[in-house]
Amino acid sequence: MRTEPLVLLSKRELEKMRHAGRTAAELLQHLEPMVKPGVSTLAINDAAERWTRSRGAKSAPLGYKGFPKSICTSVNEVVCHGIPNAKQILRQGDIINIDVTPLVDGYHGDTSKTFFVGKPSPVAQKLVEVTEECLRRGIAAVKPGARTGDIGAAIQEYAESQGFSVVRNFAGHGVHRVFHTEPEILHFGKRGTGKKLRAGMVFTIEPMINEGTWEVDILDDGWTAVTQDRKLSAQFEHTLAVTDSGVEILTLL
Ligand code: MF3
Ligand code: CO
Ligand code: CO
Repeated sequence: MRTEPLVLLSKRELEKMRHAGRTAAELLQHLEPMVKPGVSTLAINDAAERWTRSRGAKSAPLGYKGFPKSICTSVNEVVCHGIPNAKQILRQGDIINIDVTPLVDGYHGDTSKTFFVGKPSPVAQKLVEVTEECLRRGIAAVKPGARTGDIGAAIQEYAESQGFSVVRNFAGHGVHRVFHTEPEILHFGKRGTGKKLRAGMVFTIEPMINEGTWEVDILDDGWTAVTQDRKLSAQFEHTLAVTDSGVEILTLL
């Protein structure tokens, strides 16, 4: 669905995106110490909602297309869009992606990280490290004149070289006043294909990398995406701006 045409942000709008992006990064930093055995995903959600309000911001996911909570919490086999729940208690050895999107002064900062609950298994450790490196390599492919396919190819080549798979059903996206818009950033593909990047474009890169098959199921809640084989999935996300010289990561502290 095309929500609005691809826009290039003005200097003034980029400054607002920097503020939203920094706020998103601070929120993740605020939540990280809660990632411990015995904590429910709802407790993390509620802490996120409180912190966001205290900043005079809003949680963009809350009510977005009917999403019921303020953040996404995706544990183990959950690929993305996990719904925080009081009955879901973190356990030693889990991995959890926390995805936050505060809406600050009309602009969205969208970022996520996968955290370890206690000590990870060797495969969980490798999957999470590879996924973070996929995001780094995707970001490194961003500069004016490059194409969206260059980002996807960089991510897919590295993930598959490490024996993992790239989820196809969800993509990075343009983000500014609108939460999800053009351009679509696939996390797989071919170099030299796709839209040409230009200074002023702002979008996310948010690879979801799976231990086994890339295919996903959607649970009956209509949101939770899980791996079809129920093996692990990890994700990292940043919001980025294309600059004259390359790329600026907006969701850093
Ligand atoms: N933050 C997610 C993303 O990276 C989107 C969450 S939308 C929700 O695009 F409705 F699931 F919250
Ligand atoms: Co996100
Ligand atoms: Co996103």
